[in-house]
Amino acid sequence: MTATMQTSTIDIWADEILANPHEAFTELREQAPVVYLKHSDVWALTRYAEIREALGSWEDFSSTRVAFNPQMNEVLTGTTLASDPPLHTQLRATLSENLTPRALRDLKVTIDEKADRIVADAVSRGTFDAVTDLAQELPLQIVLDLIGVQGEVRDKILGWGAAAFNLLGPMNERAQQSFPLAGELFEWTHGMEGDKLAEGSIGRAIFDAGARGDIPPELCGHIIHQYLAAGMDTTIGAIANAIRLFGENPDQFAKVKEDPTLIPAAFNEVLRMEAAMHAQGRGTTRDVTVGDTVIPEGSQVAVLFYAGNRDPRHYDNPDAFLVERNPVDHLTFGYGVHGCAGQGLAKLEAHAVIEAFCRRVDSFEIGEPTVTLNNTSRSLGSLPVTSLVAA
Ligand code: HEM
Repeated sequence: MTATMQTSTIDIWADEILANPHEAFTELREQAPVVYLKHSDVWALTRYAEIREALGSWEDFSSTRVAFNPQMNEVLTGTTLASDPPLHTQLRATLSENLTPRALRDLKVTIDEKADRIVADAVSRGTFDAVTDLAQELPLQIVLDLIGVQGEVRDKILGWGAAAFNLLGPMNERAQQSFPLAGELFEWTHGMEGDKLAEGSIGRAIFDAGARGDIPPELCGHIIHQYLAAGMDTTIGAIANAIRLFGENPDQFAKVKEDPTLIPAAFNEVLRMEAAMHAQGRGTTRDVTVGDTVIPEGSQVAVLFYAGNRDPRHYDNPDAFLVERNPVDHLTFGYGVHGCAGQGLAKLEAHAVIEAFCRRVDSFEIGEPTVTLNNTSRSLGSLPVTSLVAA
């Protein structure tokens, strides 16, 4: 504890803040770059520069406390997400091998075709739900293709992904209720038989590498688990938020429609405006000074992506959605050694949906969205698209 320590009674996992974090996160950011949250015994990093610095300093901010509860950190021990170098470097190499731009190149055609079919189908209905009819469909199909399974687990997967994200939060009711579903996901990924996965799939390649002894066989289930848990809610949330932000800003939608080369920049702006994750955990390995504050060794830290992405010290007019801004340095994919391993895939998927949507829709209106409360990921539950004018 130091004289300059700033504290707050805000509970960042309260329902109303999970539903709409912006007001509370702005308050915390404008209070100080580091604020001790009394309710959760957590040190929140709130400003862009400090967040980026911390994400880049794994020696001081360890991922062994990536979750906000000890049980989950224990379960995650030895995974890419929850380890530090040098172990992390070794695990990450195996995990990201199948997600490099080269490895993804062949997937682009498939993703574009699937995205176009999904958008065409939704648009043909006249009114539709942008979450269930559109945003969920592509990541679901792609992640199942990637792993090489279809059918039997499809209906369960969305629930499993949400449960995994709930368990990264503090051990509140939402987390406790998620144990059975998260356990099912764990059993499924770790009980998988590689030779039953589709030939040519990435899942099959991972198990083949395990069988050859190229990677420890016990890692195969972990890798599939990470693809599944990390690749679903995040991408679904981002696609749904793209449609919402275009619906709220028709002038910006018109710009992208007129010039589709703006799609990558527009998607970066979607990610900056609405981070897919609410907060991510780290643990201090020593006393760490941030600004005027010393965060004691062994503290639980929360990185507030939402607050950093809208920091006026880094982005002009940060609350405005501007598709030409192209904020390539947003924090939503994280930064440093843990920076999202699947961001190439997420971009392929989102760009494909936005491209098909711009091509097939002239203008549209949206209704009131609902938010599915989750301890870590922030997903819309529904987003009605009404008064659609198809192109
Ligand atoms: C818009 C979509 C996505 C967002 C916003 C996102 C966000 C993130 C963030 C913030 C991290 C860093 C976590 C940390 O620092 O503790 C991360 C890590 C990771 N992501 Fe993503 N992600 C997305 C999509 C995906 C997809 C599609 C996959 C794969 C199928 C994926 C796989 C991973 C993996 C494996 C990690 C762990 C990397 C490591 O610990 O080294 N993500 N993601």
